[in-house]
Amino acid sequence: MELPFQIDLSGEVAVVTGGSGIIGGMFCRALALCGAKVAVLGRKAENGEPVKADIEAAGGEAITVSADVMSKESLEKAKQEILDKWGKINILVNCAGGAVKSAQIPQDQFSDIEGDMLNFFTTDMENVRSELDLNLYGTMLPTQIFGASMVGQENANIINISSMGAYGPLTRIPGYSSAKAAISNFTEWAANYFAKSGIRVNALAPGFFQTTQNHALHFNPDGTPTPRSKKIIDSTPMGKYGDPEDLIGALLFLVSPKGSSFVTGVILPVDGGFHCYLGV
Ligand SMILES: NC(=O)c1ccc[n+]([C@@H]2O[C@H](COP(=O)([O-])OP(=O)(O)OC[C@H]3O[C@@H](n4cnc5c(N)ncnc54)[C@H](O)[C@@H]3O)[C@@H](O)[C@H]2O)c1
Repeated sequence: MELPFQIDLSGEVAVVTGGSGIIGGMFCRALALCGAKVAVLGRKAENGEPVKADIEAAGGEAITVSADVMSKESLEKAKQEILDKWGKINILVNCAGGAVKSAQIPQDQFSDIEGDMLNFFTTDMENVRSELDLNLYGTMLPTQIFGASMVGQENANIINISSMGAYGPLTRIPGYSSAKAAISNFTEWAANYFAKSGIRVNALAPGFFQTTQNHALHFNPDGTPTPRSKKIIDSTPMGKYGDPEDLIGALLFLVSPKGSSFVTGVILPVDGGFHCYLGV
């Protein structure tokens, strides 16, 4: 991986939830290339091993830790493991999350659907609740648990992951959009709350990236784009999907002790202009 620019995070300790995922894994590698020690956190520690191996191969330092971002007990255990190993935590990236397939509504609009086809009225709200829990609670809880050990640390930073669904609802994924809107709101709340503690809190709002999580919504089994995919490209002023690596510069800017030391409560879109274009 090539960094867009270098910042110095040597001596710093970062935890990345969802660290074995596509975007989380990339963030782990980028932070390690800047000198941070990185805890790759996921539900199964072994899934983080390839990320850890990449970091070590590049001369960096990493551990894998297992925790569910919705379980206080497992997060407390993970925090203790990291503190035992490195003695501090000063960067938290809340990257675990995503849309839950069973909470998707298959149509853009209701049209008097007959029969047993899934629609909003027949969607199991427990699936929507689990989507809200994963994204919102799964951001608030690690912030509470890891944040407690970040107070007073130098260059203490929390980075949350919002989405274009926070600016306005995306069709078919009302639970995900609501959860990401709440993450943006929580980011601003926490920025004020922690401002005098030395912890900065910011968020990235990625546009559309081709990753495994959204693949089925955007591409047919034969690899051709779905109509939704065409709408996304047409609604993105730059006319393309982002490459996950496009997010790295924004992350490094936000955790940079020099570059953004007076920046907190920002939701930074990285989206080829999607958020500022209404289609006409
Ligand atoms: N891919 C995109 O286009 C896009 C756009 C906007 C926002 N995002 C957000 O970026 C983040 C990363 O997405 P991604 O595309 O890399 O997806 P991904 O599925 O590759 O990564 C998500 C990671 O979260 C982990 N995870 C899920 N539930 C967890 C739990 N309960 N506890 C701990 N870990 C858990 C998964 O195992 C996975 O490693 C998500 O918050 C997603 O909503 C992605």
